[in-house]
Amino acid sequence: MNKNVFVVKHPLVEHNLTILRDKNSDCEKFNCALKRISYALFFEGTKFLPTIDISVSTPICDTLSSIISPDIEIIVSPILRAGLAFGDVAQEILPFSRVHHLGMYRNEDTLEPIWYYNKMKGKLKDSENTYVFVLDPMLATGNSGYDAVHNFVKQNIPVKNIVFISLISAPEGINRLSNAYPELKIVTSKIDEKLNEKGYIVPGLGDAGDRIFNTVY
Ligand code: URA
Repeated sequence: MNKNVFVVKHPLVEHNLTILRDKNSDCEKFNCALKRISYALFFEGTKFLPTIDISVSTPICDTLSSIISPDIEIIVSPILRAGLAFGDVAQEILPFSRVHHLGMYRNEDTLEPIWYYNKMKGKLKDSENTYVFVLDPMLATGNSGYDAVHNFVKQNIPVKNIVFISLISAPEGINRLSNAYPELKIVTSKIDEKLNEKGYIVPGLGDAGDRIFNTVY
């Protein structure tokens, strides 16, 4: 296993993943379980952020204590539409981040992404000190994930500063991203078996966007 792939193993993550997989979980149940897992994924994904020590006065004495470096820029980038499900937790945990939405849907025949929105415009102030969290619950073929990561690499953000956060990953998607960008960090709660012929993760949970936004018909 690539040293930059981090699978969050925790009984509560497993428990909530079971709720997500269950086709009988309704939209409300699904989104509650997804939110609970999001916290675990974000704490894992943000453990790479640089910190500095500052002086703080407790009621007892002065001491040195760490904060996230004030010299960095953080970008949270949900891939629409399923990535939005991670957005609230990302902003709650990283209130000083910028949110850059990336809009892509997949061509169901070729499984290639088709871009329709990119909030990432203009030059970054300090790309070397910019950290990015790309959010997509399902890392399937890795095609849209690759495009999203490439979008930030083009802006001269070091690959080692980019974390891809997914709920469930297929081996195909992990290989696609890791082969293209070995220094990319991938944080996920499970690596499933494979993709089926339609590009869905097996066993997976079906179409994440449809289940999050209650558009299963
Ligand atoms: N996108 C999904 O929502 N589910 C999959 O299984 C694969 C891609």
